[in-house]
Parts: sequence; C-alpha cells; structure tokens
Amino acid sequence: MILVTGATGNIGSALLKELHARGAGPVRGLTRDAARAAFPEGTEAVEGDLAEPASLKPALTGVRSLFLVSRLGADAGILEAARKAGVEHVVLVSSITVQTHPHLGPAGENLAVEELLKESGMAWTILRPTQFASNALMWAASIRGRETVRAPYAETALPTIHPADVASVARVALTEPGHHGRTYALTGPEPVTARQQVEAIAAVLGREVPFAEISRRQARAQMVAVFGPEAADAVLDVTGGDVNPELLRVRDTVSRVTGAPARPFRRWAAENADAFRRTAGA
Ligand SMILES: NC(=O)c1ccc[n+]([C@@H]2O[C@H](COP(=O)([O-])OP(=O)(O)OC[C@H]3O[C@@H](n4cnc5c(N)ncnc54)[C@H](OP(=O)(O)O)[C@@H]3O)[C@@H](O)[C@H]2O)c1
Repeated sequence: MILVTGATGNIGSALLKELHARGAGPVRGLTRDAARAAFPEGTEAVEGDLAEPASLKPALTGVRSLFLVSRLGADAGILEAARKAGVEHVVLVSSITVQTHPHLGPAGENLAVEELLKESGMAWTILRPTQFASNALMWAASIRGRETVRAPYAETALPTIHPADVASVARVALTEPGHHGRTYALTGPEPVTARQQVEAIAAVLGREVPFAEISRRQARAQMVAVFGPEAADAVLDVTGGDVNPELLRVRDTVSRVTGAPARPFRRWAAENADAFRRTAGA
C-alpha cells in the first residue's frame, strides 16, 4: 500500500493519476475532507490531519511506502507515526533551497526534516524541486478579472518545474528499485521569467494579458500580509532578490529518473488555462 499525502494538491493529485494509470497497486490518498476529494477510481480516500500525527493511524495502517510533502504538518511526529506503523520507505518533497539558500528559515526547516528522515531507520528518497509552475496561480484572479499582473523581478529566469514532473519522479522512486538513499534536485527544462510566464498564459488564452514589474518593497507589502515577514523575504530572495548559479541551473534529473523530458512552463499553462478564464456569466 502506498499512502500519498497532499493528495488534493498540485503534486499529490498528479501522483495519484500517474499511479492509477500505471496500475501501481493499492494506493491511498490523504485529505482532511474525503467528501471533497475527487480521486481516481480505485484510490482509497482517507481522512487525517498532518498537524495531528495521532489522527494518521488509520491512514498509515498497512502502508509500506509513504509520499510525504514536508512542512504541511508536524513532520517529526508524522515520521515517528510512520515508523511505528511499519512504513519501509518514505519519498519526501523538500526544496532546492536546502542547497541554494541554506541560511533561509524555510530551507533550514526542510533540511531538519530531511535529517530526521535519514535518522528514522526507514529507507528514504528526497526530492528537492525548484519553484513550481503552479505558483502562477497566484495571478489567476487578476487575469480572470482582466487586471494587470504585477510581479517583481520580471526578468529573472528560473528553471520552473511542472508539479507533474515532481510527481513522475516520486512515482518512479515509489515503485521502481534503485532510488533508496538518493537526493534529487529537480528543475524544469529551461529558464523562464515571470514576464515570459504571463506571455505563455496570454498565448493559451488568445488575448493580451497586461504585465507590470513592481519593486521588491511593493511586492513585500502584499506578501507580508499573507505569509508573514520571514517567509515573504525568503520567497522574494529565491525568486529574484538573491539568486545564485545553483538556483538558476537547469538540471536533467527529471529525464534521467523518469526517461521522459521535463515539461516546459507553456505546457503547464495550456493544461491549466481554465484557471485563468472567466467562467460563463461571471
Ligand atoms: N511552490 C513551490 O514553488 C515549491 C518549491 C519547492 C518545494 N515546495 C514544497 O511543495 C509543497 C507543496 O506542494 P503542492 O504544491 O503539491 O501542495 P498544495 O497544492 O499546496 O497542496 C497541499 C495539500 O496538502 C494538504 N494539507 C495541507 N495541510 C494539511 C494538513 N494539516 N493535513 C493533511 N493535509 C494537509 C491539502 O489537502 P486537503 O485540503 O485535501 O487536506 C492540500 O491538498 C510544500 O512542501 C512546499 O514546501 C514548493
């Protein structure tokens, strides 16, 4: 049995689809609200709260492999509950910032989870993805409302990754031999700027989407209200304010592990065009 956490999210939902399509055997998806989860046929929806590891007991029963998205809950307690339940292998989603920006708070937290996993006695595979293509969903309301998209660091080109590629690497690590004790830094196939991302969305919508670069100070003022100051500064640093060659580097890990090329941003935009379209009557 494989248990997928974050199963209704960007990576988890893609992973459930891929495990189903490949006939990977019994799979369970964790959610806090099974009534709202639309999982592939045959995938068991199980409720549990990652913030309360004791609530995960039913979800973990009989599980041999765990796909764990880090920092959604109480990671130390989750790993302990998994070990006690007899989980043999954990595939952990961490972040590339562990190696590109280790001084930042969120990166330090991810590194701490990686270390706990390595010390847990369970086999492990660590995925360190770079920034997700799905972060562009933060512009969806503005684009649907025909407003100008405003973003800082408009010309910084990062090798943004399609979350389905993180899922594909996870699927291989969960179901094929040879991936225990491996740490994979994951990127998309090419660097893409914020301006180019908006252009790609405009192309699939078949209309102009106005874009304006804003200063870090302007962006920070909006982000602090949502994430708090430390996380806002960390996001601004890793998306343009303090980039370095390690962060900018395109890697071939996705194609090496999965055998398929990593998906470009424009593919993510095409697959998710509806999120940027006004619904009828709206
Ligand atoms: N965004 C990036 O650029 C980036 C880059 C590197 C690494 N990462 C890492 O990627 C992860 C996010 O992945 P994602 O985009 O696939 O996630 P996501 O789309 O934000 O979805 C998160 C999922 O987690 C579930 N969840 C949240 N809190 C929970 C809780 N207390 N108990 C149980 N489930 C809970 C939610 O499911 P329910 O609502 O159904 O319970 C939701 O489906 C984070 O660990 C982040 O650090 C992100």
